Amino acid sequence: MTGMTQDAARRRIQALSARGRSLLGVEHAILGGAMTWVSERSLVAAISNAGGFGVLACGSMTPDLLRAEIRATQARTAKPFGVNLIVMHSALMDLIEVCGEEKVGCVVLAGGIPPRLAMRRVKALDATLIAFAPALGLARKLVRDGVDGLIIEGAEAGGHIGSVSTSVLAQEILPNVPEVPVFVAGGIGRGEAMLAYLEMGASGCQLGTKFVCATESIAHPAFKQAFIRGAARDAMPSVQVDPRFPVIPVRALQNEGQKRFIEAQHAVIARWRAGEVDQKAAQLEIEHFWAGALRRAVIDGDVETGSLMAGQSVGLVDGEQPTAQIIETLLDQAAAALIQRDGASAMDIAGDLGMTGGA
Ligand SMILES: Cc1cc2nc3c(=O)[nH]c(=O)nc-3n(C[C@H](O)[C@H](O)[C@H](O)COP(=O)(O)O)c2cc1C
Repeated sequence: MTGMTQDAARRRIQALSARGRSLLGVEHAILGGAMTWVSERSLVAAISNAGGFGVLACGSMTPDLLRAEIRATQARTAKPFGVNLIVMHSALMDLIEVCGEEKVGCVVLAGGIPPRLAMRRVKALDATLIAFAPALGLARKLVRDGVDGLIIEGAEAGGHIGSVSTSVLAQEILPNVPEVPVFVAGGIGRGEAMLAYLEMGASGCQLGTKFVCATESIAHPAFKQAFIRGAARDAMPSVQVDPRFPVIPVRALQNEGQKRFIEAQHAVIARWRAGEVDQKAAQLEIEHFWAGALRRAVIDGDVETGSLMAGQSVGLVDGEQPTAQIIETLLDQAAAALIQRDGASAMDIAGDLGMTGGA
């Protein structure tokens, strides 16, 4: 009895991810989740060149900076890649125009519910439109509004997070949104998990944390070291000290900056109680605490007070590796899981038929 071959296992993974691959125009339905400051020309091109789908993080870039970044990425890869735009950006419509002018094939609208106008404009430019769905109702609405694909991102992810875990979101959305390909993100660090979501109906997966330590990532060596040392339990959501002053949860590795954030909230709330600042000013002060902190950590290597945004899968990052190797390893792990399972079921069948020597 011969088991499943490596080739057959890889073909099975390709078949499971066929819709996602065809939407993105790639060999492997693995998206490199856009990470502000990290997902720039070098990492994005490396992911696309390795057969995945790189996504540029626009973050707070101006339209001119985004244009330059897109052109620099195009100079490094002839393969498709996308651009992630934050919907709260004050120049959102101009950024969409830049994507159109520079012939970006895919725009990912992130950071909130995408405005209809923005969605329509992306579609009018003939680009593939992908948006994040944090719940089933919203997923259905986005489909009605014309998205070509969805990303569901669970609370295990790095950066800004919702409150629902990836596994629950996947169960809620994958069986109920058959209209468009859905990509699963948050907490994925190995191929077995990728395979599991594909078998649940996902068309592909998006990983962020796992790509931070790619050789091609320009993240500062100290930032990468923090990821290599970090355990899953170190990647915690930001703490809110008073429900009257909401804090958008951000998952990051614990450091001195997190402690200072708690102290800063207590201090400004005390000043508000004393009547020295009004509620709006106090809230703004809290929101501005982290301004520039991700750049300080990623680019300058300030891992003490900068923002070390990371997902729980940081515990599965154990060294610096070329991007192509990260992708190949994920695919090998998924294939190995399929082969092992096939072997185990062949043994079961043989057992049932009385073909094994066991009692
Ligand atoms: C350092 C960092 C920065 C991020 N910045 C963004 C961003 O600018 N826009 C966005 O949509 N998602 C952002 N994310 C989320 C990723 O795109 C991705 O969805 C997430 O990392 C997936 O979960 P994982 O980290 O468990 O792989 C960021 C994540 C990290 C770790």
